[in-house]
Amino acid sequence: MDGNGRWAERRGQPRLFGHHAGAKRVREVVEACPDLGVDYLTIFAFSTENWKRTQREVAGLMSLFRSYIKKEARALREHNVRVRFIGDRPGLDEKLRNLMDELEEYTAHCTGTNLTIAINYGGRDEVARATKRLACDVAQGKLDPQKIDEETLPRYLDTCVLPDPDLVIRTSGEARISNFLLWQSAYAEYEFIETLWPDFTNEIFAQVVRSYAGRERRYGGIAV
Ligand code: FPP
Repeated sequence: MDGNGRWAERRGQPRLFGHHAGAKRVREVVEACPDLGVDYLTIFAFSTENWKRTQREVAGLMSLFRSYIKKEARALREHNVRVRFIGDRPGLDEKLRNLMDELEEYTAHCTGTNLTIAINYGGRDEVARATKRLACDVAQGKLDPQKIDEETLPRYLDTCVLPDPDLVIRTSGEARISNFLLWQSAYAEYEFIETLWPDFTNEIFAQVVRSYAGRERRYGGIAV
């Protein structure tokens, strides 16, 4: 969800104004998923690198996440949205962690769109944390190192219950992946679009999904 800062700066407003505008888009995009056939949506809200921002912006974002959870919980459940969070939770403050746990529990029975929110998330950090857990299982004799293969590590990732992404959309004209779902995106299709996140309408979302549907995915094989 890139481009909130520039969107605000272009309007002569503080960066947090852009993040608030971005948060409004989240609701619209989530509600568009069923019609577009999107069962799983993962949004990158705060990376392990975003702590480098000013204290004011970081505190504003954390407060926005707390108020988003409080304000949106009911609507999410009414829309049958199951919410999960990925990222390094111990690095977040207790109040936010509790709200995250509560929202996961509150929507656990929902069977519609699966919304995953990445907060304090970094792909490398996730792989490192997963490797630590895997190594503990080896040390405790629960896992035979000879049996480790491509299917093993994903079971230790934050995304262990989620499918790999088919499509990764990055807004705001930046053509890089910035530590997002590194392992899981091995065969994802990418769309880098110029639109800043607060201008990302459902029309644009539908266009990007349509364009994805026309792509041929070969997973290293050849066209049949
Ligand atoms: C990147 O744009 C965006 C963020 C670091 C924050 C994203 C957060 C939201 C959209 C808030 C809503 C999220 C939830 C879960 C309610 P940027 O600040 O890097 O923009 P820039 O590249 O133009 O500076």
